Amino acid sequence: MGYHSYESLIREIKGRLSITNLVENYVSLKRSGKGYVGLCPFHDDKNPSLHVNEDKGLYHCFACGAGGDIVGFLMRYKNVSFQDALQELAKKANIKIQNKSGASQKQSRKKSLYKVNNLVSLFYHNLLISGAESRAARNYIKSRGLSMEIIKEFHLGYAPHSWETLVHFLNKKKIPQGIAENIGLIIRKKNKEGFYDRFRNRIIFPICDVDSDVVGFGGRALDRETEPKYINSPESEIYQKRSTLFGLEKSRDYVRRKEKVIIVEGYIDFLSLYSAGIRNVVATLGTSLTHEHAILLRRYTDKIIVVFDGDKSGEDASLRVLEVFLEVGISPFMVVLPSGNDPDTIIRDEGSDKFLSLTERANSLLEFYIERSLKEFKEGLITRSKAVKRIVTIIGKFKDPIEKSYYIRKTSEIFGLRESELFSLINHEIQSYDDTKSELAKKPNSQEILILKILLKFPRLSRFIKEKSMIDYITEKNIKEVLEVIENQDAIDVSSLLMYFDDSSIQEIISEAIFTSDNIADESTATVMLYECLRKLKLGKLEDKLRLLRMQIEHATSNNDEALEKKLLNEYKECRDIVEQEKLMRGEVYED
Ligand code: CTP
Ligand code: MN
Repeated sequence: MGYHSYESLIREIKGRLSITNLVENYVSLKRSGKGYVGLCPFHDDKNPSLHVNEDKGLYHCFACGAGGDIVGFLMRYKNVSFQDALQELAKKANIKIQNKSGASQKQSRKKSLYKVNNLVSLFYHNLLISGAESRAARNYIKSRGLSMEIIKEFHLGYAPHSWETLVHFLNKKKIPQGIAENIGLIIRKKNKEGFYDRFRNRIIFPICDVDSDVVGFGGRALDRETEPKYINSPESEIYQKRSTLFGLEKSRDYVRRKEKVIIVEGYIDFLSLYSAGIRNVVATLGTSLTHEHAILLRRYTDKIIVVFDGDKSGEDASLRVLEVFLEVGISPFMVVLPSGNDPDTIIRDEGSDKFLSLTERANSLLEFYIERSLKEFKEGLITRSKAVKRIVTIIGKFKDPIEKSYYIRKTSEIFGLRESELFSLINHEIQSYDDTKSELAKKPNSQEILILKILLKFPRLSRFIKEKSMIDYITEKNIKEVLEVIENQDAIDVSSLLMYFDDSSIQEIISEAIFTSDNIADESTATVMLYECLRKLKLGKLEDKLRLLRMQIEHATSNNDEALEKKLLNEYKECRDIVEQEKLMRGEVYED
Protein backbone atom coordinates (compact mmCIF):
# COMPACT_ATOMS: atom_id res chain seq x y z
CA MET A 1 0.00 0.00 0.00
CA GLY A 2 1.44 3.38 -0.98
CA TYR A 3 1.59 6.70 0.81
CA HIS A 4 -1.38 7.89 -1.15
CA SER A 5 -3.91 5.78 0.70
CA TYR A 6 -2.77 7.42 3.91
CA GLU A 7 -2.61 10.91 2.47
CA SER A 8 -4.68 12.68 5.09
CA LEU A 9 -2.93 10.98 7.97
CA ILE A 10 0.49 11.87 6.58
CA ARG A 11 -0.60 15.44 5.98
CA GLU A 12 -1.74 15.65 9.58
CA ILE A 13 1.51 14.17 10.86
CA LYS A 14 3.63 16.50 8.76
CA GLY A 15 1.60 19.44 9.91
CA ARG A 16 2.25 18.63 13.54
CA LEU A 17 5.78 17.25 13.58
CA SER A 18 9.02 18.84 12.48
CA ILE A 19 11.43 16.65 10.51
CA THR A 20 14.34 18.50 12.09
CA ASN A 21 13.11 17.61 15.57
CA LEU A 22 12.60 14.01 14.64
CA VAL A 23 16.02 13.60 13.04
CA GLU A 24 17.58 15.38 16.00
CA ASN A 25 16.39 12.54 18.24
CA TYR A 26 18.90 10.30 16.51
CA VAL A 27 21.53 12.58 14.97
CA SER A 28 23.04 15.73 16.38
CA LEU A 29 22.38 18.58 13.98
CA LYS A 30 23.98 21.96 13.42
CA ARG A 31 22.56 24.94 11.62
CA SER A 32 24.01 25.47 8.18
CA GLY A 33 22.70 27.95 5.65
CA LYS A 34 19.01 27.44 5.16
CA GLY A 35 18.88 24.08 6.91
CA TYR A 36 20.65 21.70 9.26
CA VAL A 37 23.50 19.25 8.82
CA GLY A 38 24.77 16.25 10.78
CA LEU A 39 26.61 12.94 10.51
CA CYS A 40 24.60 10.57 8.34
CA PRO A 41 23.46 7.51 10.32
CA PHE A 42 23.10 5.42 7.18
CA HIS A 43 26.76 5.06 6.34
CA ASP A 44 30.09 5.51 8.10
CA ASP A 45 30.08 9.29 7.81
CA LYS A 46 33.24 11.27 8.63
CA ASN A 47 32.07 14.75 7.64
CA PRO A 48 28.50 15.85 8.15
CA SER A 49 26.79 14.90 4.89
CA LEU A 50 23.21 14.65 6.09
CA HIS A 51 21.12 17.73 5.29
CA VAL A 52 17.68 18.48 6.64
CA ASN A 53 15.38 21.02 5.09
CA GLU A 54 12.47 21.96 7.30
CA ASP A 55 10.51 23.93 4.68
CA LYS A 56 10.49 21.05 2.27
CA GLY A 57 10.15 18.44 5.00
CA LEU A 58 13.02 16.44 3.57
CA TYR A 59 16.39 14.97 4.49
CA HIS A 60 19.17 14.00 2.10
CA CYS A 61 22.67 12.60 2.47
CA PHE A 62 25.08 13.92 -0.13
CA ALA A 63 27.49 11.06 0.44
CA CYS A 64 25.39 7.90 0.41
CA GLY A 65 22.28 9.22 -1.31
CA ALA A 66 19.79 8.31 1.43
CA GLY A 67 16.88 10.72 1.45
CA GLY A 68 13.17 11.24 1.85
CA ASP A 69 10.55 12.62 4.18
CA ILE A 70 9.87 12.21 7.89
CA VAL A 71 8.15 8.85 7.44
CA GLY A 72 10.92 7.60 5.19
CA PHE A 73 13.55 8.65 7.72
CA LEU A 74 11.95 6.70 10.53
CA MET A 75 11.39 3.64 8.35
CA ARG A 76 15.01 3.60 7.37
CA TYR A 77 16.49 4.48 10.72
CA LYS A 78 14.49 1.92 12.65
CA ASN A 79 14.13 -0.46 9.77
CA VAL A 80 10.40 -0.68 10.27
CA SER A 81 7.55 -1.02 7.83
CA PHE A 82 5.70 1.96 6.45
CA GLN A 83 2.67 1.20 8.64
CA ASP A 84 4.78 0.90 11.78
CA ALA A 85 6.54 4.19 11.08
CA LEU A 86 3.18 5.91 10.58
CA GLN A 87 1.86 4.45 13.78
CA GLU A 88 4.84 5.68 15.75
CA LEU A 89 4.70 9.16 14.24
CA ALA A 90 0.95 9.39 14.78
CA LYS A 91 1.53 8.59 18.42
CA LYS A 92 4.22 11.27 18.71
CA ALA A 93 1.85 13.75 17.07
CA ASN A 94 -1.01 12.77 19.39
CA ILE A 95 -3.16 11.60 16.53
CA LYS A 96 -5.52 8.73 17.27
CA ILE A 97 -5.78 6.24 14.45
CA GLN A 98 -9.38 5.10 14.30
CA ASN A 99 -11.05 1.92 13.11
CA LYS A 100 -8.54 -0.78 12.44
CA SER A 101 -7.97 -1.54 8.80
CA GLY A 102 -7.44 -5.06 7.55
CA ALA A 103 -3.74 -4.36 7.46
CA SER A 104 -3.51 -3.37 11.09
CA GLN A 105 -5.64 -6.32 12.21
CA LYS A 106 -3.14 -8.57 10.54
CA GLN A 107 -0.43 -6.56 12.23
CA SER A 108 -1.90 -7.18 15.65
CA ARG A 109 -2.29 -10.88 14.96
CA LYS A 110 1.37 -10.99 14.01
CA LYS A 111 2.20 -9.17 17.22
CA SER A 112 0.52 -11.89 19.24
CA LEU A 113 2.53 -14.55 17.42
CA TYR A 114 5.76 -12.70 18.12
CA LYS A 115 4.75 -12.47 21.74
CA VAL A 116 4.40 -16.24 22.01
CA ASN A 117 7.75 -16.83 20.31
CA ASN A 118 9.49 -14.23 22.45
CA LEU A 119 8.09 -15.84 25.56
CA VAL A 120 9.12 -19.34 24.47
CA SER A 121 12.57 -18.09 23.58
CA LEU A 122 13.02 -16.80 27.14
CA PHE A 123 11.64 -20.03 28.55
CA TYR A 124 14.22 -22.13 26.67
CA HIS A 125 16.93 -19.62 27.50
CA ASN A 126 16.29 -19.82 31.22
CA LEU A 127 16.30 -23.60 31.03
CA LEU A 128 19.74 -23.47 29.42
CA ILE A 129 21.47 -21.12 31.80
CA SER A 130 20.47 -22.91 35.01
CA GLY A 131 19.53 -26.33 36.28
CA ALA A 132 21.12 -29.76 36.23
CA GLU A 133 19.08 -31.02 33.30
CA SER A 134 20.85 -28.72 30.88
CA ARG A 135 24.40 -29.31 32.07
CA ALA A 136 25.26 -31.40 29.02
CA ALA A 137 23.88 -28.69 26.75
CA ARG A 138 25.94 -26.02 28.50
CA ASN A 139 29.04 -28.16 28.18
CA TYR A 140 28.34 -28.75 24.52
CA ILE A 141 28.04 -25.02 23.81
CA LYS A 142 31.21 -24.39 25.76
CA SER A 143 32.99 -27.08 23.75
CA ARG A 144 32.02 -25.17 20.60
CA GLY A 145 33.85 -22.13 21.96
CA LEU A 146 30.76 -20.04 22.70
CA SER A 147 30.78 -17.99 25.90
CA MET A 148 28.04 -17.19 28.42
CA GLU A 149 28.05 -13.67 27.01
CA ILE A 150 27.11 -14.99 23.57
CA ILE A 151 24.49 -17.32 25.09
CA LYS A 152 22.91 -14.29 26.71
CA GLU A 153 23.22 -11.90 23.80
CA PHE A 154 21.55 -14.36 21.41
CA HIS A 155 19.20 -15.90 23.98
CA LEU A 156 20.45 -19.38 23.13
CA GLY A 157 18.32 -21.96 24.85
CA TYR A 158 17.77 -25.60 25.66
CA ALA A 159 14.72 -27.73 24.91
CA PRO A 160 14.67 -30.61 27.41
CA HIS A 161 14.64 -34.33 26.70
CA SER A 162 10.87 -34.71 27.02
CA TRP A 163 7.76 -34.77 24.84
CA GLU A 164 5.67 -32.21 26.65
CA THR A 165 7.77 -29.64 28.45
CA LEU A 166 6.66 -26.85 26.16
CA VAL A 167 3.09 -28.13 25.88
CA HIS A 168 2.78 -27.81 29.67
CA PHE A 169 4.41 -24.41 29.74
CA LEU A 170 2.03 -23.09 27.07
CA ASN A 171 -0.96 -24.47 28.98
CA LYS A 172 0.20 -22.79 32.14
CA LYS A 173 0.52 -19.50 30.28
CA LYS A 174 -2.94 -20.04 28.72
CA ILE A 175 -1.56 -19.76 25.21
CA PRO A 176 -3.96 -21.37 22.71
CA GLN A 177 -2.46 -24.55 21.27
CA GLY A 178 -3.62 -23.65 17.79
CA ILE A 179 -1.38 -20.60 17.81
CA ALA A 180 1.63 -22.56 19.01
CA GLU A 181 0.92 -25.17 16.34
CA ASN A 182 0.72 -22.48 13.67
CA ILE A 183 4.20 -21.25 14.40
CA GLY A 184 5.50 -24.78 14.62
CA LEU A 185 6.35 -24.97 18.30
CA ILE A 186 4.20 -28.03 18.94
CA ILE A 187 2.95 -30.80 16.69
CA ARG A 188 -0.45 -32.47 16.71
CA LYS A 189 -0.32 -36.18 17.62
CA LYS A 190 -1.35 -38.64 14.95
CA ASN A 191 -4.57 -40.58 15.67
CA LYS A 192 -4.62 -39.23 19.20
CA GLU A 193 -5.67 -36.16 21.14
CA GLY A 194 -3.13 -33.55 22.02
CA PHE A 195 0.24 -32.18 21.02
CA TYR A 196 3.94 -32.81 21.57
CA ASP A 197 7.01 -30.54 21.50
CA ARG A 198 8.81 -30.09 18.18
CA PHE A 199 12.19 -29.44 19.82
CA ARG A 200 13.47 -32.09 22.21
CA ASN A 201 16.93 -32.38 23.73
CA ARG A 202 18.32 -29.70 21.46
CA ILE A 203 20.24 -26.45 21.71
CA ILE A 204 17.86 -23.71 20.65
CA PHE A 205 18.85 -20.83 18.38
CA PRO A 206 16.12 -18.16 18.21
CA ILE A 207 15.82 -16.66 14.74
CA CYS A 208 14.83 -12.99 14.73
CA ASP A 209 13.66 -10.46 12.20
CA VAL A 210 15.36 -7.07 11.93
CA ASP A 211 13.13 -5.72 14.71
CA SER A 212 14.54 -8.42 17.03
CA ASP A 213 11.22 -10.23 17.27
CA VAL A 214 11.63 -14.00 17.34
CA VAL A 215 10.14 -15.47 14.17
CA GLY A 216 11.34 -19.06 14.49
CA PHE A 217 13.86 -21.42 16.03
CA GLY A 218 16.63 -23.76 15.06
CA GLY A 219 17.47 -26.72 17.27
CA ARG A 220 20.79 -28.57 17.16
CA ALA A 221 21.35 -32.09 18.40
CA LEU A 222 23.91 -32.47 21.18
CA ASP A 223 25.84 -35.28 19.58
CA ARG A 224 26.96 -36.57 16.22
CA GLU A 225 24.62 -39.54 16.18
CA THR A 226 21.23 -37.86 16.39
CA GLU A 227 19.56 -37.25 13.04
CA PRO A 228 18.77 -34.76 11.75
CA LYS A 229 21.53 -32.52 13.04
CA TYR A 230 19.23 -29.51 12.92
CA ILE A 231 15.49 -29.16 13.23
CA ASN A 232 14.02 -25.79 12.29
CA SER A 233 10.67 -24.07 12.70
CA PRO A 234 8.51 -24.45 9.61
CA GLU A 235 7.53 -21.39 7.63
CA SER A 236 4.61 -19.47 9.08
CA GLU A 237 2.78 -16.19 8.92
CA ILE A 238 5.78 -14.59 10.63
CA TYR A 239 8.64 -16.70 9.27
CA GLN A 240 9.66 -16.76 5.62
CA LYS A 241 12.96 -18.44 5.06
CA ARG A 242 13.57 -16.71 1.76
CA SER A 243 13.66 -13.30 3.37
CA THR A 244 15.24 -14.08 6.73
CA LEU A 245 18.93 -13.77 7.50
CA PHE A 246 20.11 -15.07 10.84
CA GLY A 247 21.75 -12.47 13.05
CA LEU A 248 21.07 -9.40 10.91
CA GLU A 249 19.24 -7.71 13.78
CA LYS A 250 22.50 -7.79 15.75
CA SER A 251 24.99 -7.29 12.96
CA ARG A 252 23.36 -4.59 10.85
CA ASP A 253 25.09 -1.66 12.55
CA TYR A 254 28.46 -3.38 12.10
CA VAL A 255 27.62 -4.07 8.46
CA ARG A 256 26.92 -0.39 7.91
CA ARG A 257 30.05 0.70 9.68
CA LYS A 258 32.36 -1.76 7.92
CA GLU A 259 30.54 -1.13 4.65
CA LYS A 260 30.58 -4.83 3.86
CA VAL A 261 28.90 -8.02 4.93
CA ILE A 262 30.17 -11.57 5.22
CA ILE A 263 27.62 -14.26 4.43
CA VAL A 264 28.01 -17.69 5.98
CA GLU A 265 25.79 -20.76 6.01
CA GLY A 266 25.30 -21.84 9.59
CA TYR A 267 24.25 -20.76 13.08
CA ILE A 268 27.54 -21.86 14.58
CA ASP A 269 29.55 -20.17 11.84
CA PHE A 270 27.77 -16.92 12.54
CA LEU A 271 28.23 -17.13 16.29
CA SER A 272 31.82 -18.18 15.99
CA LEU A 273 32.69 -15.15 13.84
CA TYR A 274 30.64 -12.85 16.02
CA SER A 275 32.43 -14.11 19.15
CA ALA A 276 35.77 -13.53 17.49
CA GLY A 277 34.84 -9.89 16.94
CA ILE A 278 33.99 -10.23 13.25
CA ARG A 279 30.50 -8.87 13.52
CA ASN A 280 29.52 -7.71 10.05
CA VAL A 281 28.12 -11.14 9.30
CA VAL A 282 24.81 -12.89 8.53
CA ALA A 283 23.87 -16.55 8.02
CA THR A 284 21.52 -18.00 5.43
CA LEU A 285 20.83 -21.10 7.55
CA GLY A 286 21.49 -23.57 4.82
CA THR A 287 18.87 -22.25 2.40
CA SER A 288 20.22 -20.86 -0.83
CA LEU A 289 20.49 -17.12 -1.21
CA THR A 290 17.35 -15.55 -2.61
CA HIS A 291 16.44 -12.34 -4.38
CA GLU A 292 14.76 -11.22 -1.14
CA HIS A 293 17.99 -11.74 0.82
CA ALA A 294 19.87 -9.66 -1.73
CA ILE A 295 17.35 -6.82 -1.57
CA LEU A 296 17.45 -6.88 2.21
CA LEU A 297 21.24 -6.76 2.36
CA ARG A 298 21.45 -4.04 -0.26
CA ARG A 299 19.78 -1.73 2.25
CA TYR A 300 22.93 -1.92 4.34
CA THR A 301 25.84 -2.35 1.95
CA ASP A 302 26.79 -3.18 -1.61
CA LYS A 303 29.94 -5.07 -0.71
CA ILE A 304 29.07 -8.70 -0.27
CA ILE A 305 31.53 -11.45 0.65
CA VAL A 306 30.12 -14.94 0.51
CA VAL A 307 32.05 -17.57 2.42
CA PHE A 308 31.12 -21.03 1.26
CA ASP A 309 31.96 -24.25 2.97
CA GLY A 310 34.81 -25.99 1.21
CA ASP A 311 32.79 -28.63 -0.55
CA LYS A 312 31.26 -29.26 -3.95
CA SER A 313 27.77 -28.06 -3.07
CA GLY A 314 29.27 -24.76 -1.93
CA GLU A 315 30.89 -24.29 -5.33
CA ASP A 316 27.73 -25.21 -7.15
CA ALA A 317 25.77 -22.66 -5.18
CA SER A 318 28.12 -19.97 -6.46
CA LEU A 319 26.42 -19.42 -9.82
CA ARG A 320 23.05 -18.93 -8.21
CA VAL A 321 24.53 -16.42 -5.76
CA LEU A 322 26.22 -14.57 -8.59
CA GLU A 323 22.98 -14.22 -10.53
CA VAL A 324 20.98 -13.20 -7.49
CA PHE A 325 23.33 -10.33 -6.67
CA LEU A 326 23.95 -9.19 -10.24
CA GLU A 327 20.19 -8.87 -10.59
CA VAL A 328 20.16 -6.26 -7.84
CA GLY A 329 23.20 -4.47 -9.22
CA ILE A 330 25.86 -5.93 -6.95
CA SER A 331 28.92 -7.89 -7.99
CA PRO A 332 29.69 -10.20 -5.06
CA PHE A 333 32.99 -11.56 -3.76
CA MET A 334 33.64 -15.08 -2.66
CA VAL A 335 35.96 -17.07 -0.45
CA VAL A 336 36.18 -20.80 -1.03
CA LEU A 337 37.47 -22.51 2.08
CA PRO A 338 39.78 -25.51 1.95
CA SER A 339 37.83 -28.72 1.53
CA GLY A 340 36.24 -29.99 4.73
CA ASN A 341 36.31 -26.60 6.45
CA ASP A 342 33.64 -24.10 7.36
CA PRO A 343 34.06 -20.59 8.79
CA ASP A 344 33.79 -21.96 12.32
CA THR A 345 36.62 -24.48 11.89
CA ILE A 346 38.88 -21.84 10.32
CA ILE A 347 38.32 -19.48 13.23
CA ARG A 348 38.86 -22.23 15.79
CA ASP A 349 41.87 -23.87 14.14
CA GLU A 350 43.64 -20.93 12.54
CA GLY A 351 42.31 -17.84 14.28
CA SER A 352 40.30 -14.81 13.34
CA ASP A 353 43.24 -13.05 11.64
CA LYS A 354 43.55 -15.89 9.19
CA PHE A 355 39.82 -15.72 8.48
CA LEU A 356 39.95 -11.95 8.00
CA SER A 357 42.86 -12.22 5.61
CA LEU A 358 40.89 -14.76 3.57
CA THR A 359 37.97 -12.35 3.29
CA GLU A 360 40.27 -9.49 2.41
CA ARG A 361 41.70 -11.51 -0.44
CA ALA A 362 38.26 -12.61 -1.60
CA ASN A 363 37.90 -12.94 -5.35
CA SER A 364 35.19 -11.53 -7.47
CA LEU A 365 32.70 -14.35 -7.84
CA LEU A 366 32.44 -13.70 -11.56
CA GLU A 367 36.17 -14.12 -11.98
CA PHE A 368 35.95 -17.40 -10.14
CA TYR A 369 33.12 -18.43 -12.40
CA ILE A 370 35.03 -17.53 -15.57
CA GLU A 371 38.01 -19.52 -14.42
CA ARG A 372 35.88 -22.48 -13.49
CA SER A 373 34.26 -22.47 -16.92
CA LEU A 374 37.68 -22.32 -18.53
CA LYS A 375 38.81 -25.28 -16.47
CA GLU A 376 35.75 -27.30 -17.45
CA PHE A 377 36.36 -26.42 -21.10
CA LYS A 378 40.04 -27.43 -20.88
CA GLU A 379 39.13 -30.69 -19.24
CA GLY A 380 36.73 -31.35 -22.10
CA LEU A 381 33.67 -31.28 -19.87
CA ILE A 382 32.00 -28.51 -21.89
CA THR A 383 32.55 -27.01 -25.34
CA ARG A 384 34.17 -23.62 -25.86
CA SER A 385 30.94 -22.16 -27.14
CA LYS A 386 29.00 -23.43 -24.13
CA ALA A 387 31.60 -22.00 -21.75
CA VAL A 388 31.59 -18.63 -23.49
CA LYS A 389 27.81 -18.43 -23.70
CA ARG A 390 27.51 -19.20 -20.04
CA ILE A 391 29.86 -16.39 -19.13
CA VAL A 392 28.38 -13.94 -21.58
CA THR A 393 24.90 -14.50 -20.16
CA ILE A 394 26.25 -13.52 -16.78
CA ILE A 395 28.23 -10.51 -18.00
CA GLY A 396 25.09 -9.27 -19.73
CA LYS A 397 23.52 -8.83 -16.31
CA PHE A 398 26.14 -6.29 -15.20
CA LYS A 399 24.79 -2.80 -14.73
CA ASP A 400 28.10 -0.97 -14.65
CA PRO A 401 29.52 -0.53 -18.19
CA ILE A 402 33.07 -0.25 -16.88
CA GLU A 403 32.88 -3.58 -15.09
CA LYS A 404 31.20 -5.04 -18.08
CA SER A 405 33.97 -4.12 -20.47
CA TYR A 406 36.61 -5.23 -17.96
CA TYR A 407 35.14 -8.72 -17.84
CA ILE A 408 34.64 -8.85 -21.56
CA ARG A 409 38.29 -8.06 -22.08
CA LYS A 410 39.23 -10.71 -19.57
CA THR A 411 37.01 -13.35 -21.15
CA SER A 412 38.25 -12.51 -24.63
CA GLU A 413 41.84 -12.96 -23.45
CA ILE A 414 41.15 -16.23 -21.70
CA PHE A 415 39.23 -17.80 -24.57
CA GLY A 416 41.15 -16.16 -27.40
CA LEU A 417 38.15 -14.38 -28.90
CA ARG A 418 37.70 -10.87 -30.24
CA GLU A 419 35.98 -8.44 -27.86
CA SER A 420 33.55 -7.37 -30.57
CA GLU A 421 32.40 -10.96 -30.93
CA LEU A 422 31.60 -11.10 -27.26
CA PHE A 423 29.80 -7.77 -27.37
CA SER A 424 27.57 -8.93 -30.15
CA LEU A 425 26.80 -12.12 -28.26
CA ILE A 426 25.84 -10.05 -25.24
CA ASN A 427 23.58 -7.86 -27.28
CA HIS A 428 21.76 -10.90 -28.54
CA GLU A 429 21.16 -11.83 -24.93
CA ILE A 430 20.00 -8.34 -24.04
CA GLN A 431 17.71 -8.09 -27.00
CA SER A 432 15.80 -11.11 -25.90
CA TYR A 433 15.21 -9.37 -22.59
CA ASP A 434 12.03 -7.49 -21.91
CA ASP A 435 12.83 -3.84 -22.56
CA THR A 436 11.98 -2.58 -19.09
CA LYS A 437 14.20 -5.27 -17.64
CA SER A 438 17.25 -4.41 -19.68
CA GLU A 439 20.03 -2.80 -17.77
CA LEU A 440 19.82 0.27 -19.98
CA ALA A 441 16.40 0.92 -18.53
CA LYS A 442 17.63 0.74 -14.97
CA LYS A 443 20.60 3.05 -15.12
CA PRO A 444 19.54 6.59 -14.22
CA ASN A 445 20.64 8.94 -16.92
CA SER A 446 21.88 12.40 -16.03
CA GLN A 447 19.50 14.06 -18.51
CA GLU A 448 16.58 12.27 -16.93
CA ILE A 449 17.58 13.38 -13.47
CA LEU A 450 17.99 16.95 -14.70
CA ILE A 451 14.47 16.87 -16.12
CA LEU A 452 13.16 15.81 -12.75
CA LYS A 453 15.08 18.58 -10.98
CA ILE A 454 13.70 21.19 -13.35
CA LEU A 455 10.13 20.01 -12.98
CA LEU A 456 10.28 19.83 -9.21
CA LYS A 457 11.73 23.32 -9.00
CA PHE A 458 9.40 24.84 -11.59
CA PRO A 459 6.17 22.84 -11.37
CA ARG A 460 4.50 25.02 -13.98
CA LEU A 461 6.75 23.46 -16.61
CA SER A 462 5.20 20.07 -15.95
CA ARG A 463 2.69 20.81 -18.72
CA PHE A 464 5.53 19.88 -21.09
CA ILE A 465 5.39 16.28 -19.91
CA LYS A 466 2.21 15.78 -21.88
CA GLU A 467 2.93 18.25 -24.65
CA LYS A 468 6.27 16.70 -25.51
CA SER A 469 5.37 13.09 -24.65
CA MET A 470 8.37 13.17 -22.36
CA ILE A 471 7.61 9.90 -20.66
CA ASP A 472 8.33 8.04 -23.89
CA TYR A 473 11.96 9.08 -23.68
CA ILE A 474 12.54 8.25 -20.05
CA THR A 475 14.05 4.85 -19.43
CA GLU A 476 14.59 4.92 -15.67
CA LYS A 477 11.61 3.22 -14.08
CA ASN A 478 11.52 5.31 -10.91
CA ILE A 479 11.81 8.63 -12.72
CA LYS A 480 9.10 7.49 -15.08
CA GLU A 481 6.82 6.75 -12.15
CA VAL A 482 7.41 10.17 -10.62
CA LEU A 483 6.75 11.96 -13.91
CA GLU A 484 3.54 10.02 -14.35
CA VAL A 485 2.31 11.31 -11.02
CA ILE A 486 3.41 14.88 -11.77
CA GLU A 487 1.85 14.78 -15.23
CA ASN A 488 -1.63 14.76 -13.80
CA GLN A 489 -1.21 17.59 -11.34
CA ASP A 490 -0.77 21.26 -12.11
CA ALA A 491 0.66 22.35 -8.79
CA ILE A 492 2.95 19.95 -7.02
CA ASP A 493 4.24 20.43 -3.57
CA VAL A 494 7.04 18.05 -2.87
CA SER A 495 5.77 16.87 0.43
CA SER A 496 2.52 15.61 -1.01
CA LEU A 497 4.31 14.22 -4.02
CA LEU A 498 6.28 12.01 -1.65
CA MET A 499 3.04 10.57 -0.37
CA TYR A 500 2.70 8.63 -3.56
CA PHE A 501 5.85 6.67 -2.91
CA ASP A 502 6.92 4.56 0.02
CA ASP A 503 9.66 2.99 -2.05
CA SER A 504 12.92 4.30 -0.61
CA SER A 505 14.69 4.48 -3.96
CA ILE A 506 12.03 6.86 -5.30
CA GLN A 507 12.19 8.95 -2.14
CA GLU A 508 15.94 9.17 -2.67
CA ILE A 509 15.64 10.31 -6.24
CA ILE A 510 13.18 13.02 -5.28
CA SER A 511 15.17 14.28 -2.29
CA GLU A 512 18.35 14.35 -4.31
CA ALA A 513 16.68 16.30 -7.09
CA ILE A 514 15.38 18.86 -4.61
CA PHE A 515 18.62 19.27 -2.72
CA THR A 516 20.74 19.72 -5.83
CA SER A 517 18.66 22.07 -7.92
CA ASP A 518 20.11 25.34 -6.62
CA ASN A 519 21.95 26.05 -9.88
CA ILE A 520 18.78 26.20 -11.95
CA ALA A 521 18.16 29.92 -11.69
CA ASP A 522 14.88 30.93 -13.30
CA GLU A 523 12.01 29.57 -15.27
CA SER A 524 13.16 30.71 -18.70
CA THR A 525 16.62 29.16 -18.25
CA ALA A 526 14.88 26.05 -16.99
CA THR A 527 12.72 25.89 -20.09
CA VAL A 528 15.74 26.07 -22.37
CA MET A 529 17.43 23.38 -20.33
CA LEU A 530 14.37 21.19 -20.52
CA TYR A 531 14.30 21.37 -24.31
CA GLU A 532 17.98 20.57 -24.45
CA CYS A 533 17.55 17.56 -22.18
CA LEU A 534 14.80 16.19 -24.35
CA ARG A 535 16.85 16.63 -27.48
CA LYS A 536 19.77 14.80 -25.93
CA LEU A 537 17.55 11.97 -24.78
CA LYS A 538 16.12 11.57 -28.26
CA LEU A 539 19.60 11.58 -29.76
CA GLY A 540 20.84 9.17 -27.14
CA LYS A 541 18.10 6.74 -27.96
CA LEU A 542 18.94 6.88 -31.65
CA GLU A 543 22.64 6.46 -30.96
CA ASP A 544 21.95 3.40 -28.82
CA LYS A 545 20.07 1.99 -31.73
CA LEU A 546 22.96 2.72 -34.09
CA ARG A 547 25.41 1.02 -31.76
CA LEU A 548 23.24 -2.05 -31.55
CA LEU A 549 22.82 -2.14 -35.33
CA ARG A 550 26.58 -1.91 -35.83
CA MET A 551 27.11 -4.97 -33.68
CA GLN A 552 24.32 -6.88 -35.34
CA ILE A 553 25.77 -6.05 -38.74
CA GLU A 554 29.19 -7.25 -37.67
CA HIS A 555 27.62 -10.43 -36.42
CA ALA A 556 25.67 -10.94 -39.66
CA THR A 557 28.85 -10.37 -41.65
CA SER A 558 30.83 -12.94 -39.71
CA ASN A 559 27.96 -15.41 -40.19
CA ASN A 560 27.90 -14.68 -43.92
CA ASP A 561 24.21 -13.83 -43.70
CA GLU A 562 24.02 -11.39 -46.60
CA ALA A 563 20.29 -10.86 -46.61
CA LEU A 564 20.23 -9.89 -42.97
CA GLU A 565 23.30 -7.74 -43.42
CA LYS A 566 21.64 -5.79 -46.19
CA LYS A 567 18.46 -5.27 -44.27
CA LEU A 568 20.35 -4.07 -41.21
CA LEU A 569 22.51 -1.73 -43.29
CA ASN A 570 19.42 -0.05 -44.67
CA GLU A 571 17.99 0.38 -41.24
CA TYR A 572 21.32 1.75 -40.10
CA LYS A 573 21.46 4.36 -42.87
CA GLU A 574 17.94 5.54 -42.17
CA CYS A 575 18.63 5.97 -38.51
CA ARG A 576 21.96 7.67 -39.16
CA ASP A 577 20.35 10.21 -41.48
CA ILE A 578 17.99 11.30 -38.74
CA VAL A 579 20.82 11.68 -36.26
CA GLU A 580 22.90 13.61 -38.78
CA GLN A 581 20.08 16.02 -39.49
CA GLU A 582 19.46 16.62 -35.82
CA LYS A 583 23.12 17.36 -35.28
CA LEU A 584 23.49 19.53 -38.37
CA MET A 585 20.66 21.68 -37.14
CA ARG A 586 22.72 22.32 -34.05
CA GLY A 587 25.97 22.77 -35.95
CA GLU A 588 27.40 19.53 -34.63
CA VAL A 589 29.12 17.23 -37.07
CA TYR A 590 28.32 13.57 -37.11
CA GLU A 591 31.28 11.23 -36.90
CA ASP A 592 30.91 7.57 -37.69
N1 CTP B 1 20.99 -27.05 8.34
C1 CTP B 1 19.70 -27.46 8.61
N2 CTP B 1 19.40 -28.78 8.72
C2 CTP B 1 20.36 -29.71 8.56
C3 CTP B 1 21.67 -29.32 8.25
C4 CTP B 1 21.95 -27.96 8.16
O1 CTP B 1 18.84 -26.63 8.78
N3 CTP B 1 20.05 -31.00 8.69
C5 CTP B 1 21.26 -25.60 8.22
C6 CTP B 1 21.57 -25.01 9.58
O2 CTP B 1 21.08 -23.69 9.60
C7 CTP B 1 23.07 -25.03 9.62
C8 CTP B 1 23.41 -24.72 8.18
O3 CTP B 1 22.41 -25.37 7.44
O4 CTP B 1 23.58 -24.07 10.52
C9 CTP B 1 24.76 -25.18 7.74
O5 CTP B 1 24.85 -26.59 7.88
P1 CTP B 1 26.16 -27.30 8.39
O6 CTP B 1 27.35 -26.68 7.72
O7 CTP B 1 25.96 -28.76 8.26
O8 CTP B 1 26.12 -26.99 9.94
P2 CTP B 1 26.98 -25.99 10.84
O9 CTP B 1 26.30 -24.69 10.93
O10 CTP B 1 28.39 -26.00 10.41
O11 CTP B 1 26.82 -26.65 12.26
P3 CTP B 1 27.86 -27.51 13.06
O12 CTP B 1 29.17 -26.79 12.99
O13 CTP B 1 27.28 -27.56 14.41
O14 CTP B 1 27.91 -28.86 12.40
MN1 MN C 1 30.22 -26.22 11.34
